[in-house]
Amino acid sequence: MRAITTIAQLRHELDTHRATGATVGFVPTMGYLHAGHQSLVRAAAAETDLVVVSIFVNPLQFAPDEDLESYPRDLDADTERCRAAGASLVFAPTVEEMYPQPVWTTVHVGVVSEALEGAARPTHFDGVATVVSKLFGIVGPCRAYFGEKDFQQLAIVTRLAADLSAPVEVVGCPTVRESDGLAMSSRNVYLTAEERPQAAAINQALRLGCDLIRSGERDRSAVEAAMRAHIEAQPAARVDYVVAVDSTSLRPTDRLSGSVRVLAAVRFGSARLIDNMGIEIS
Ligand code: PAF
Repeated sequence: MRAITTIAQLRHELDTHRATGATVGFVPTMGYLHAGHQSLVRAAAAETDLVVVSIFVNPLQFAPDEDLESYPRDLDADTERCRAAGASLVFAPTVEEMYPQPVWTTVHVGVVSEALEGAARPTHFDGVATVVSKLFGIVGPCRAYFGEKDFQQLAIVTRLAADLSAPVEVVGCPTVRESDGLAMSSRNVYLTAEERPQAAAINQALRLGCDLIRSGERDRSAVEAAMRAHIEAQPAARVDYVVAVDSTSLRPTDRLSGSVRVLAAVRFGSARLIDNMGIEIS
């Protein structure tokens, strides 16, 4: 399978397929694909006729001190992984193709983008929302698949598609995990052999939080404190946040009720890892 590199060519290919009545599945990625990405491609392939995967390390979503230059890249291996998971097309544009001139138009999704990752990385979600809007405009009518691992991103993209009346149905897919529960992420390669087993504490803490809620705990601070203590028992862990919030607004309420999401962001050495889990209170 060859990678398409221009917007015009991708539009032409997709329009040609849509003219025959084919439905399009779209999986946006920044490459260095792992089993988590492949599960999105497989879900798209099961539900649509033609799957396109975009591979683009989007400079707009990296702050100057972040890992844009060192972000792992391997287009040949990615193309093979896409093919193996059932994709028909890979779209791998250059930065010049996507941003031929300075970007004056950016997309900001209010409320849901402000806390958590938005607070830790103030320019990140405008970069994500801008490139996703652009990709939705390039790909056109489709079902677009996003992982629940980046839960805040999923919430933002869902809202963006609705607010902008994009001809796109956003589909959230479950997080794929290593055998010890660590969420798969391209950034896991940054973990040292010493840090790697400790990183499993993130998922353990989230499960602990959900178990406490399931057993009747409704005090948000108590749930958050228990999750934090579990992660901080690992010597290499530096917690950025660990919270229990409303799953739509991602805002905290003192008493937990309804649909709750527990989310964490934790640094282990040079790796900053995120994970989350949902629980319904009836
Ligand atoms: O989740 C990612 O890999 C990126 O944020 C996305 C959605 C592909 C936009 O660059």
